[in-house]
Amino acid sequence: MKRIVILISGRGSNMEALIAARDAGRLPVDIVAVISNRPDARGLETAARAGIATHFIDHKGFAGREAFDAALAGCIDDFAPDLVVLAGFMRILSEGFVRRYEGRLINIHPSLLPAFPGLHTHQRALEEGVRIHGCTVHFVTPALDHGPVIIQAAVPVFDDDSEASLAARVLTQEHKIYPQAVRWFAEGRLSLVDGRVRLAGDHGSAVALVAPGGA
Ligand code: GAR
Repeated sequence: MKRIVILISGRGSNMEALIAARDAGRLPVDIVAVISNRPDARGLETAARAGIATHFIDHKGFAGREAFDAALAGCIDDFAPDLVVLAGFMRILSEGFVRRYEGRLINIHPSLLPAFPGLHTHQRALEEGVRIHGCTVHFVTPALDHGPVIIQAAVPVFDDDSEASLAARVLTQEHKIYPQAVRWFAEGRLSLVDGRVRLAGDHGSAVALVAPGGA
């Protein structure tokens, strides 16, 4: 069974979705550790309650990004994971770190990349007036919030949306697509061809989302 390490910085709801999928038999992976860069990350307690090894490496205790990333890599490598899963891990990673885990480091981002990389994605989507927003799971490359896309989910944006209501609609989809992406990885169905992801086997049926829907 593939071994995965999950990196978090806070709430950890995507991590919880992965644990729930594993517990439901929908995600055949061994979640060997959850690591946070913040000692007070709420998700650490959740992971510990689920019987998963937890660690924190406080980035504030390091002189620079490279030193923190080296300590983080050392901790990750102790668990010999096949895949490193960033789930709300809010630290920019150095190029050396990203290269070390090339092809086995994935991230979830709360927008339809390449739109809205960075922070405050829901607020920016509202300000731009887009009608469709969403989330993306992608392989991590040295460019921030960039890299071969594995799966995306789109949601409509309504006229009366607030940042919170839109974030909640997107988060519901994040909790669906992240377990799906990890499952595909675990099943060996993902490959990279010319910098793009190929998914082996059945792609299922996708329907078009039109927003607003009209009468
Ligand atoms: C999620 O919405 C995730 O997409 C986002 O942080 C949130 C973490 O929530 N990640 C990023 O913005 C990374 N650029 P969670 O801790 O409840 O999973």
